[in-house]
Amino acid sequence: MVFVFLLVLLFDVVGCLDNGVALTPPMGWMQWERFRCNIDCKNDPENCISEKLVMDIADRMERDGYQDVGYTYISLDDCWMSEERDSDGSLQPDKDRFPHGIKYLADYVHSKGLKLGIYLDMGLKTCKGYPGSKFYIQRDVQSLQEWGVDMLKVDCCSGGSDLIKGYEVMGFFLNQTGRPIVFSCSYPACIGNQFSDYMGVAKLCNSWRNAIDITDSWDRVYQVMQFYVLNTHNFARYSGPGHWNDPDELIVGDYSLSDGEERSQFGMWAMFAAPLFMSVDLRNIKPSSRNLLLNKRVIAINQDPLGIQAQIMWQHAWTDQGMVSGWARPLVKKGSYAIAILNGSSYGMPAPINATLQDFGLTNQDGYNITDAFDGLSLGPHKLTQPILLKLPAHDTFLGTVVPL
Ligand SMILES: *[C@@H]1O[C@H](CO)[C@@H](O)[C@H](O)[C@H]1NC(C)=O
Repeated sequence: MVFVFLLVLLFDVVGCLDNGVALTPPMGWMQWERFRCNIDCKNDPENCISEKLVMDIADRMERDGYQDVGYTYISLDDCWMSEERDSDGSLQPDKDRFPHGIKYLADYVHSKGLKLGIYLDMGLKTCKGYPGSKFYIQRDVQSLQEWGVDMLKVDCCSGGSDLIKGYEVMGFFLNQTGRPIVFSCSYPACIGNQFSDYMGVAKLCNSWRNAIDITDSWDRVYQVMQFYVLNTHNFARYSGPGHWNDPDELIVGDYSLSDGEERSQFGMWAMFAAPLFMSVDLRNIKPSSRNLLLNKRVIAINQDPLGIQAQIMWQHAWTDQGMVSGWARPLVKKGSYAIAILNGSSYGMPAPINATLQDFGLTNQDGYNITDAFDGLSLGPHKLTQPILLKLPAHDTFLGTVVPL
């Protein structure tokens, strides 16, 4: 861990994107996973992509405590646009669904102290066929500036060979606005497995999607986790203040996850120093999911100012139904760490855990105090070689903070 830590520090000195934002992983809400490209406001007025949806979510973020614990950005995704640019070639929102325009929406969100995110695509068309920003990069950035947008996700559904060049140009014009805008880039995910220039993406973007798209399913959540287990291009090394790996949205509170699976996604996203973008109907979320999303101990791990992404420290099988893995990341408080134990096995009987703090690479001879981050309960002081005894059900995660004695 010490070695990893030093590499991260050295890398930061060499110079990543310096636009003053996303010094901890950005937090907020994003439309895509839960609301997709629902444009049917006639039959589904509550759930279609519209200014009403964004304003409803902003109200909930303010009223139900999300803003208080750090969720700040509300981000539209694909399908907010009109199918045509206006007569000047500028992007415009769909007039029926966003009758007051994006500036009005930004002002509304800002009036609550929240921030607005929006979506563009680097190709000729967005993923769902709306106007792309190819040949319009400067103009589209100018629109963002006029509207007062605070975050930009740029997708790459129809990007060609000059894809990365387009992002570089976009980054240049974003900088020229003088406005601090979180720049979220999708090109590592679009390029796929052969993508390796993490140094480049960390110089250009505040966060970048690299794993597969999340859907409302445990299988997909676990697939994304496996991507970080493999850590193929050592991309965890490029995570730090201002530049983050993005494993995609949280599906906590949606339809498919059990309570344990929700803990696993939220807990592991905290360990990954991932952007925390909820994609859930905040008007209609069960209390257990809401309480999880508001858990300050878990959020504190995610938002730790060092910004060091967790590494896998050990892994073993639990029956032939999958693996149990142990993870650790150093925290800013001297000598402290967050640790996680993820039971990825689907075996019915809970996995018996007896890992020691030494197994997580910890070295303080006097041992550590362990606190469960989900429920805040102390597991008491543990010597380095004393087993942490737990029974961990299928797909559940233990998340703890460990503080040296
Ligand atoms: C523009 O880039 C310079 C040089 O990296 C940086 O100092 C400045 O903060 C950037 N401004 C914005 C608004 O991104």
